[in-house]
Amino acid sequence: MTVTTPSVPVHRALPAGFAWGAATAAYQIEGAVTEGGRTPSIWDTFSHTPGRTENGDTGDTAVDHYHRFRDDVRLMADLGLTTYRFSLAWPRIQPTGRGPASQAGLDFYRALTDELLSHGITPVATLYHWDLPQELEDAGGWPHRDTAHRFAEYTALAAEALGDRISTWTTLNEPWCSAFLGYGSGVHAPGRTDPADALKAAHHLNLGHGLAVGALRAALPGASRIAVSLNLHAVRPLSDHPDDLAAARRIDAVGNRVFTSPMFKGRYDEDLLKDTAHLVRWEELVHDGDLAEISRPIDLLGLNYYNPTVVSSAENARNLARHDGHGDSPHSPWPGAEDVAFHRANDDLTAMGWPIDPTGLSDTLTALHREFGLPLLVTENGAAFEDVPDADGAVHDPERIRYLESHLGAVADAIEAGADVRGYYLWSLLDNFEWAYGYGKRFGIVHVDYATQQRTPKSSAHWYSQVIRRGGLA
Ligand code: FCB
Repeated sequence: MTVTTPSVPVHRALPAGFAWGAATAAYQIEGAVTEGGRTPSIWDTFSHTPGRTENGDTGDTAVDHYHRFRDDVRLMADLGLTTYRFSLAWPRIQPTGRGPASQAGLDFYRALTDELLSHGITPVATLYHWDLPQELEDAGGWPHRDTAHRFAEYTALAAEALGDRISTWTTLNEPWCSAFLGYGSGVHAPGRTDPADALKAAHHLNLGHGLAVGALRAALPGASRIAVSLNLHAVRPLSDHPDDLAAARRIDAVGNRVFTSPMFKGRYDEDLLKDTAHLVRWEELVHDGDLAEISRPIDLLGLNYYNPTVVSSAENARNLARHDGHGDSPHSPWPGAEDVAFHRANDDLTAMGWPIDPTGLSDTLTALHREFGLPLLVTENGAAFEDVPDADGAVHDPERIRYLESHLGAVADAIEAGADVRGYYLWSLLDNFEWAYGYGKRFGIVHVDYATQQRTPKSSAHWYSQVIRRGGLA
């Protein structure tokens, strides 16, 4: 990698060795959904179901990364990325969710990681970024306990085959979305809307995480590092009215502590159990030994952060907008807290309608540091804007630069306050398939012309590249 002499002095340096990355996920970029023996995942089924995604968009072709990965890695190297977070497609590696690994699936990820390593880019693999093999959903999906065991089995196959070249592994990406958007509000695959199933899914995702940590430790070399990526909600009460404080407590329970307490404290919190006791029989759901399994120690905690979550009681929300930023559905993704009202933190919005507020990132990082003491990674952070190429094909995205700069500043603030933040993965390297929003929402620092698959780095890519080469903000 060529390191150019910085043209601008660094005013806020990030620590030496800080990992400068970008993130993607398999279904959002790969395409080639029927190649190499891959079978459908719940996202193939969901996106092909009329009415589920904007415009009927699917990941069939996505940005064709499966065929263009060498060019994409070259792009990363040109930008100066030191690390890249991507996900392994379960239905590529273990097509039906059971049985032996597919050679073609493993070969693809071997080639990708070799390409990254040959450019000096450290690969970080996420095992599950939402693409459950459809056969496992047909057998009951995440509300069904066996799915956790299937996940551990797939994890072992992936780790045995790729553990020699991938040293940092993330088990789950945003299990909150898998459980509560997938089985609660139904705006994500598989599109089911049963609050009890959402809670069962959450427990089995936790169990799958713990079992996968065990499988990874057994298969990986000793120096490997294991993480999980959680979209922890930076929950803020609208006022200090006791009812608003109670609303914030409930959202913190079912939005955050439903994962962090079993994973890091080996328990489900009493208030969560009470809030949801009318929906599930926790004493039957959680078997003896589950919590010990789920709380196996990990090495790094990954935070995905986009915006804060401001809540009030329904009563105090009268005449105020209700907006939780997770897509429209008559079904709530918040079991036991269905009457909580959501508010925009401010009116400075991205194209997703998500308020821009970097203090939620610094607050969450410092709180996580204080509470769990683990080294932290920001495994996702970024923004969608209406990027339009100009007459010469260049894409100027000053709003994204402003977003990224303020959020990297928030990371620097958290580090200054004592949080041990080891790296930052910008979401996303490329414009891609944004789940139920389809291709209409662009998060990339590299523009993709979906008709020609041409990649054009936006001005934010050039800016990020300067930040990386400088080792901090100007
Ligand atoms: C996160 C997802 C990621 C991407 C961003 C915008 O919730 O993990 O795949 O869609 O949001």
